[in-house]
Amino acid sequence: MDYKSYIAGKINIEGVCTEQLADFIEVPANPDMGDFALPCFKLSKILRSSPINIAVNLANDFSCDEVISSVEAVNGYLNFKINRVGFTENTINEILSLGSNYGSSNIGEGKTICIDYSSINIAKPFHIGHLSTTVIGRALCKIYRFLGYKVVGINHLGDYGTQFGKLIVAYKNWSSEKAVLEGRLKELTRIYVKFHEEAKNHPELDDEARRYFKLIEDGDKESNKLFEMFKKITLEEVDKIYKLLNVEFDSYAGESFYNDKMGVIVEELNQKGLIKTSDGASIVDLSEYDMPPCLILKSDGSTLYATRDIAAAVYRKNTYDFYKCLYVVAYQQNLHFKQFFKVVELMGKDWAKELVHVAYGMVSLESGSMSTRAGNVVLLEDVINKTIEKAYSVIESKNPDLKDKEKTARAVGTGAVIFGALCNNKIKDIVFSYDRVLSFEGETCPYVQYTVARCNSVLNKNGEPCSFTAPKVNDDEFAVLTELAKFKEVVKSAGEKYEPSLVTRYALDLASAFNKFYFSCKIACEDENLKNFRLSIAKAVKITLTNALNLLGIQVVEEM
Ligand code: ARG
Repeated sequence: MDYKSYIAGKINIEGVCTEQLADFIEVPANPDMGDFALPCFKLSKILRSSPINIAVNLANDFSCDEVISSVEAVNGYLNFKINRVGFTENTINEILSLGSNYGSSNIGEGKTICIDYSSINIAKPFHIGHLSTTVIGRALCKIYRFLGYKVVGINHLGDYGTQFGKLIVAYKNWSSEKAVLEGRLKELTRIYVKFHEEAKNHPELDDEARRYFKLIEDGDKESNKLFEMFKKITLEEVDKIYKLLNVEFDSYAGESFYNDKMGVIVEELNQKGLIKTSDGASIVDLSEYDMPPCLILKSDGSTLYATRDIAAAVYRKNTYDFYKCLYVVAYQQNLHFKQFFKVVELMGKDWAKELVHVAYGMVSLESGSMSTRAGNVVLLEDVINKTIEKAYSVIESKNPDLKDKEKTARAVGTGAVIFGALCNNKIKDIVFSYDRVLSFEGETCPYVQYTVARCNSVLNKNGEPCSFTAPKVNDDEFAVLTELAKFKEVVKSAGEKYEPSLVTRYALDLASAFNKFYFSCKIACEDENLKNFRLSIAKAVKITLTNALNLLGIQVVEEM
């Protein structure tokens, strides 16, 4: 039952449709204010009256029924109390019958969303800086699929640029096939760092690098063979992390995929009179929009990051006919996205407005930030493995008899890393701390996973709940029920706002409401009906928390 729509349907205001009215209705933070509330200031412009007057008038006109038990005007708010018995039955029945589909919807039916995320750079280490794009992007993929959209997850590989020329030079001077095949990404990083050290005193190395990059572009066999080897090694290494995190992509079409698709774009830009020449380079002047120019071709004719992004956007529109195309990329690239979206718009593509930069903040370890060139990177794989190890030792000390400790440590460790990255509003910078993400108290994954395990243990001890007739619910029970009922909306707004942290916060709120109930109400009580009702709550919480964690890409554990 959708209470907001139900309430909205019982209120008649000229010029405001039911849907809009339902959107205005909220769940008050303080339950004493009622179960739902309409903030009447949202109507004062339309009705040309004060919120207080509007609330009083609407309250007088409202007739309560078997669903809405009372209405009251308080300080410009219209507060509703619902019939808790009906609400209880509706909520529990819906969750138990829908199970793993609870919270899903079909609002996205027939629409495709492209999500460009993770988008790693070939021959560069996968460091902690890639954590956010990978887990935010994956969560958005899952959330949108849950909402009925068709999702295309794209890893827009950074596999194009002079750095590959540099690598070839470094490889020829200081490495070998054997060393690279053995040392893998670590060896590639080592020689990349070495190149930059050496190039300081030998600038001719940079010219060499440019020459080799040109050779790759021109299809030279030997250079391309090396490039393909670097690419293969990187993808194999990165795949280990994707496996640890359970991340999958539908497409790995990266920057070099657009090599043969940029010519027509440059031509189109020319034809539409958008290209200007500046110091030999081809640019799109964006001064009118208060932005520096967008570089399309360098003076030597080579293309740029933005050229490839424009070509990729056009390709994706043609291939997938997306409803939206999201780019989950750090805020450091804000300007790049604003520029290239503008160029697409100036090209006359009306779908430019469907391109969305989903920006997020930086992740760093307590020890500070890092750079590949200087060689001081914190590898994501090391962070995840260390978290798993630490999770193992926590389990070892708290529950040494647990079966399958290794598997549990894996779920808890990776979960902690993912949850840590999805816990706050995505634009905030995060400082990663092992102890914090693994704590069983506070806003952590172990806390939520433990709550699922707790529900599970209650259900195992007492058996599956039988049907019940809704009793008069107390405040702690009711608090869990209202949290449970919110899930569908939370998922919807996480999608609308590109904000998986709404699901993370929700999981924490639901877990904490359940734990409060667990400690204040005896589940295995004498009264059979009450016992079945409370067991049903535990089951509904288990289902809903499992669904929420699934959307975030986190596994639940049966026991911990
Ligand atoms: N590889 C880029 C980087 O690491 C991110 C690419 C993001 N996607 C895109 N279409 N520009 O900075």
